[in-house]
Amino acid sequence: MLMHRVKAGLIGCGMISGIYLKNLTQVFDHAVDLVACADLVPELAKKRAEEFNVPAACSVDELLADPEIEIVLNLTAPAAHAAINITALHAGKHVYTEKPFALTREDAREVLSIAESKGLLVGCAPDTFLGGALQTCRKLIDEGWIGTPYAANATIIMGNAEAGMHPNFHHFLKLGGDPLLDMGPYYLTALVHLLGPVRRVTGSAQQLRHEIIIQNPKSPRCGDIVPVEAPTNITAVLDFHSGAVASLQAAKESFGYKPRLEIFGTEGNMTVPDPNFFGPVSGLGSLLTIQSRSGEVKELPLSHGFTEDSRGLGVADMAYAIRSGRPNRASGRLAEHILDISLGILEASETNRHVHLQTKVDRPAPLPLGLKYNQLDL
Ligand SMILES: NC(=O)c1ccc[n+]([C@@H]2O[C@H](COP(=O)([O-])OP(=O)(O)OC[C@H]3O[C@@H](n4cnc5c(N)ncnc54)[C@H](O)[C@@H]3O)[C@@H](O)[C@H]2O)c1
Repeated sequence: MLMHRVKAGLIGCGMISGIYLKNLTQVFDHAVDLVACADLVPELAKKRAEEFNVPAACSVDELLADPEIEIVLNLTAPAAHAAINITALHAGKHVYTEKPFALTREDAREVLSIAESKGLLVGCAPDTFLGGALQTCRKLIDEGWIGTPYAANATIIMGNAEAGMHPNFHHFLKLGGDPLLDMGPYYLTALVHLLGPVRRVTGSAQQLRHEIIIQNPKSPRCGDIVPVEAPTNITAVLDFHSGAVASLQAAKESFGYKPRLEIFGTEGNMTVPDPNFFGPVSGLGSLLTIQSRSGEVKELPLSHGFTEDSRGLGVADMAYAIRSGRPNRASGRLAEHILDISLGILEASETNRHVHLQTKVDRPAPLPLGLKYNQLDL
């Protein structure tokens, strides 16, 4: 049990802020005390603060000047992530940011080096790998249920459903909202959590269209022609330091939502629930199963909690880390490695080669078994 809650301020009161606000004020409030909301659009900050009883709605500058706030939670648009993280760190705050961590390796390095020089923590989404599904998969792999993992395949195929309906859908048609930097982090973080760091990557990135016509009749922008400014169809090969090799396919050119993640081992094959979620979701074919050498397929029960939509779990874990001095799991170093993998894939495609990664990260510590409800340490 924590002695003192860690005060946090949220910047970016858009779509995803709702679930963070709900969980941080109702589930993880024993660890985090959310005291302020800010947004470029003051009405959005005011609305969220009222909705979730957050004491203050203020400007970004006011939030950063509040000496009581220890963590800045950055839920702004991808292109704003690094700049806000850098400003918050200079203001002496720990930062936890939504993915992608940054849009360039230079920005990612700058965030981490400022944090290191100031003794501050950096955290980054996704935190779904801390959920019950991926923690159970980790335990089973570490216990040897599938022998030595030698291969994996990860696929996320989806439509540009956001196009036209999300209030800022144009972000999804630029670098940062593209399938690799936007959806890739869930799959890549799950793979690194299960198999360890990646050594080299190669891949092909394609941009099928340079503009789309918004066709959703429910969209206020229906009929508009909007530019596409990033690849929308990527296939990659990842070589892990462990010797395992994985394929990754990420596309936002299709329809529906087709997630898939499988790990192949010398003693069995594991189907991993969709890493975009904290637990298995019915209807997405994402149960945790292991097929043994005999061919028998078994569904495995989950050994860990946090199976609901627990976004904010990584922020709570960071609050524990700040108070106890242990490392935070959804860390900036992990996010930097995920970004390095993603940018490496795009570079490989442009330059017709394998790209050897400069970053390497240890697998984050698994959550212990037997945690009490909502707790992150025993
Ligand atoms: N929408 C989702 O389902 C979802 C899911 C998981 C993660 N994410 C990630 O969360 C982040 C936010 O996504 P969203 O869907 O909530 O976007 P959004 O556009 O709905 O919200 C972003 C908010 O940030 C504000 N903002 C932008 N730049 C700012 C700045 N410089 N200072 C202050 N406020 C600023 C905007 O005014 C807006 O209210 C993205 O990085 C996205 O990848 C979104």
